Amino acid sequence: MTAPETARADICIIGAGSSGMTVAKALKARGLAYDCFEKGSDIGGMWRYQNDNGLSSAYASLHIDTSRDNLGYSDFPIPSDRPDFLSHAAFLQHLEAYADRFGLREGVRFRTTVTAVEPAAEGRWRVRTDTGVDRTYRAVIIANGHLWDPRLPEFPGRFEGTQIHSHHYRTAAPFEDQDVLVVGLGNSAVDIAVDLCRRARSVTISTRRGAWIMPKYLMGIPVDRWSGFLSRKLRLPTTVARSIMARLIRLAVGDQRRFGLKRPDHPMWREHATLSQELLPYIGHGWITVKPDVALLDREDVIFRDGSRQRFDAIIHATGYRTTFPFLSTEIFDGERRPVRLFRRILPPERPGLFFAGLVQPIGPTIPLVETQGLWIAAVLAGAVTVPDGAGMEREIEAHVAYQRSTYVDAERYALEVDYRHYSHALKADIAAGTAGR
Ligand SMILES: Cc1cc2nc3c(=O)[nH]c(=O)nc-3n(C[C@H](O)[C@H](O)[C@H](O)COP(=O)(O)OP(=O)(O)OC[C@H]3O[C@@H](n4cnc5c(N)ncnc54)[C@H](O)[C@@H]3O)c2cc1C
Ligand SMILES: NC(=O)c1ccc[n+]([C@@H]2O[C@H](COP(=O)([O-])OP(=O)(O)OC[C@H]3O[C@@H](n4cnc5c(N)ncnc54)[C@H](OP(=O)(O)O)[C@@H]3O)[C@@H](O)[C@H]2O)c1
Repeated sequence: MTAPETARADICIIGAGSSGMTVAKALKARGLAYDCFEKGSDIGGMWRYQNDNGLSSAYASLHIDTSRDNLGYSDFPIPSDRPDFLSHAAFLQHLEAYADRFGLREGVRFRTTVTAVEPAAEGRWRVRTDTGVDRTYRAVIIANGHLWDPRLPEFPGRFEGTQIHSHHYRTAAPFEDQDVLVVGLGNSAVDIAVDLCRRARSVTISTRRGAWIMPKYLMGIPVDRWSGFLSRKLRLPTTVARSIMARLIRLAVGDQRRFGLKRPDHPMWREHATLSQELLPYIGHGWITVKPDVALLDREDVIFRDGSRQRFDAIIHATGYRTTFPFLSTEIFDGERRPVRLFRRILPPERPGLFFAGLVQPIGPTIPLVETQGLWIAAVLAGAVTVPDGAGMEREIEAHVAYQRSTYVDAERYALEVDYRHYSHALKADIAAGTAGR
């Protein structure tokens, strides 16, 4: 159901994925009227498989790797009769129930793509859409998702087989009886390799840095419930909790070098977790093999850094995503500029009135974290939380950048990294204090 533009709405939300919806709920709870523009014909963003917005990176076999009890919203948990790890369809169903429960669809204009967000007079923002909307708002909340624009590697040479990015992977069917190379060792790469390996003739994973492979279960309990137990129940500091987790995982997994996977040079707690219950056993079955980084593409062959050469029919680049905003000039905000400069990972200091929601990559789940961002944004817009001046924002950003550099691996995929516990605590503390960043 689409709703007419509300005449009194002075806030615009771009996107009706899990981020846009939870922000909308928070605005509604504060009595703040908004217009939400959504490119696709329904809510759910990337969790709607084959979404007609053309942007979803979901593949048919995708199961969310955050376990049920850590995934739901604070006042709308996932029922305990659901499986530990929801499929994309099951999570979408939950999100639809959330939207229906809190009447969130009514504020959404579907099939409406925002084409431009530009500064307007008196500190307002002009929003234009492909359906002819052209109006100004005091605030624009950008919740368009950041996992849809493929980041492709630039390997030397030329490959004559099929090449796709994981964003375009849906099922193993087109790769039946083919020799397939999957580049990368993040969650997309391991999920896709596991999905492919029963139908393709051979599956090879290529990794430059390696990654610690974590199982989804430890002693029958989802791995993120163990970390929740250590940090929330036992109140251990994050570093202590993570180092205990690293030991438990090493005990459960053993030495991953036995499977041909290099042991990363960095400690486990410095990286974004790669979770798979199946990858190592499937390497053990001989269904998946592992190679180092690609050195050269040579027609139908790939030459790897160890000098080995192998023929492939297809390469799937599971190499992550660029952070881009097609409706925003890069002079206003450039998501590819490093480091990313956002106060509390939400506000660009020199662009009052612009907010980003969901522009984070947490150690921990994104979905409930954005709920807290939504509460923070609504509190700021309602005047219940004051934000510092530009210099104060810059100081907070510098501190965050220093934290990122000292904590995570130095690679593109960590540009948006936050620690769930620290970051949600900071946002909640701001709301409680009525002032942000103190
Ligand atoms: C394969 C995969 C698996 C993941 N697994 C997990 C997980 O296990 N746990 C977890 O917490 N997170 C996971 N994530 C991260 C996930 O992306 C976030 O958790 C979250 O659901 C993203 O929601 P979003 O609303 O920010 O973005 P999206 O779901 O991408 O929604 C953005 C919406 O904005 C709309 N939009 C975009 N541009 C415009 C425009 N110009 N005008 C109007 N509308 C527009 C889109 O149509 C879309 O509906 C995963 C991501 C991927 C890619
Ligand atoms: N089941 C799930 O819940 C699920 C499934 C898929 C994705 N996700 C989530 O979605 C997000 C995106 O995941 P993703 O796996 O698509 O991307 P990602 O986390 O950014 O991982 C990209 C991978 O590609 C590698 N890579 C990047 N550029 C490369 C290059 N030029 N040459 C060689 N290797 C390169 C990276 O290695 P380096 O480490 O060396 O940079 C990394 O292994 C993450 O938050 C992830 O957790 C979740």
